[in-house]
Amino acid sequence: MTKPLFDPIINRFGTHCAKWDKMEDIYGVPAKDGIAMWVADMDFRPPAVVQAALEKMAEHGVYGYFGDESDYLAAISWWMKHRHGWEIDPAWVFTTHGLVNGTGLCVDAFTEPGDGVVLMTPVYHAFHRVIKAAGREVVECPLALENGKYMMDFDAWDAQMSGKERMLILCSPHNPGGRVWTRAELEAVAAFCRKHDLVLVSDEIHHDLVMPGHTHTPMALIDGIEDRLVMMSATTKTFNIAGTHSGNVIIADAKLRETFAARMAALGISPNSFGLEMATAAYSPEGAAWVDELVAYLDGNRRIFDAAIAEIPGLTSMPLEATYLAWVDFTDTGMSREEFTARVEKTARIAPNHGPTFGTGGENYLRFNLATPCSIVEDACTRLKEAFSDLQ
Ligand SMILES: Cc1ncc(COP(=O)(O)O)c(C=O)c1O
Repeated sequence: MTKPLFDPIINRFGTHCAKWDKMEDIYGVPAKDGIAMWVADMDFRPPAVVQAALEKMAEHGVYGYFGDESDYLAAISWWMKHRHGWEIDPAWVFTTHGLVNGTGLCVDAFTEPGDGVVLMTPVYHAFHRVIKAAGREVVECPLALENGKYMMDFDAWDAQMSGKERMLILCSPHNPGGRVWTRAELEAVAAFCRKHDLVLVSDEIHHDLVMPGHTHTPMALIDGIEDRLVMMSATTKTFNIAGTHSGNVIIADAKLRETFAARMAALGISPNSFGLEMATAAYSPEGAAWVDELVAYLDGNRRIFDAAIAEIPGLTSMPLEATYLAWVDFTDTGMSREEFTARVEKTARIAPNHGPTFGTGGENYLRFNLATPCSIVEDACTRLKEAFSDLQ
C-alpha cells in the first residue's frame, strides 16, 4: 500500500526554520518533545514539479538576476482562470517579496501617515504590525460571532467610520477563523468600500486551501469594485514555499496600478528568481493535482482535531471552511488566558499562536496550525485532552 504523500514526518530542526527552530526561544516549549503549531507554514515538501524546478536551477548553478517573467505570467494567468474562474491580464501583475511586503507597499502607496486602515478583527497579525509601523492608524472593526462563525457587522462598522479611513484590508478566506466569505458578503464589502471611499486590498493568500463543500469567490469577480481593488495572492502558502518570499499584487485599475508601480520602483523591488521559478512550476496541472491531495489531507487533519477539541468541555474550535489554522476558543473553561496558555505550552508542550496578536476578539483564543502529518495532530490532540483532563 502506498503511504499518503503527507504522512512522513520530516525533521525540520536545524534548518533555520522559524516554526521549529525558534519554538523553544519564543514559547519555552522544549525542542526535545514539543510540537510547533504556530507559524503558518506546512511540514510538507512541495510537489515534485516544484522541487524539480529548484533542482534544475541548482544543477545549472548560476544564480544571476531574473529577467523574463513571461512564463510566470502565463502560469499565473492559467491558474487564476482554471482554479478560480478569473481571467487576468498579465500586465496587472506585480511580483513583491511576499504579501506582508505587498501589504506594506499598498499602505505606503495608497494612504498617508495618520490615515486609518480598516481591519476586520480578529485578523492576521502582520496587518496590524505593518500599518502601525508605517505610522497609519489601525481601525478595528470587530467581526460578530454568530452560531460559532464570524460574520461581518456593517451597521456597527458604518457608525465607527470617522472619515479619516482610506483603506480596508480584507482577508479572504479569513485567517484566523477560516471563513470563506460568500458572494453576498463580498458584495457588501464592496458597497462598504464605495460608501466610505476606501481602497480595498483583498489578501487571498489562502484561496487555494478551501475545504470540500466551500467555494472561494475572488473579490475581482464582484461588480462595482474594480476601480478601487488591489488583489493579493501567492504560491507560498498553497505550495509551502514561503521562504522564497514571493507574492502577487494584481491591480486591474490603471490609476491604482500607476501609483503602485511608482512605489515598487522607488523601493527597487524586483522578482526573486527562486520564487518565480518555483511558482511557475507550481501553477501547473501537476501542482493543481497536488493541491487537491493536500486539501483532502488537511480536511482529514481538521476532522481529527475538531473531534478531539469537541471532547474537551469548555473548548470550541471554529469550523474551518478554509486554511489549515484552527482557531480555538477557551472562554468556556473559565480560565484566565495565562492559565489556558500555560496548560497548552507547559503541560501539553505545544506552541500555538496567541489570540490577542490578531486584535480585538482574539483575547481568549489560541490558533493551532494543522498542516503537519496526521500522527502529529493526533499526538497534539492526546496532549490537549490530558492537559485539560480535569474538565472532563
Ligand atoms: C492572510 C495572510 N497574508 C499574508 C501572509 C504572509 O505572507 P508572506 O509570507 O507572503 O509575507 C500570511 C501568512 O500566514 C497570511 O495568513
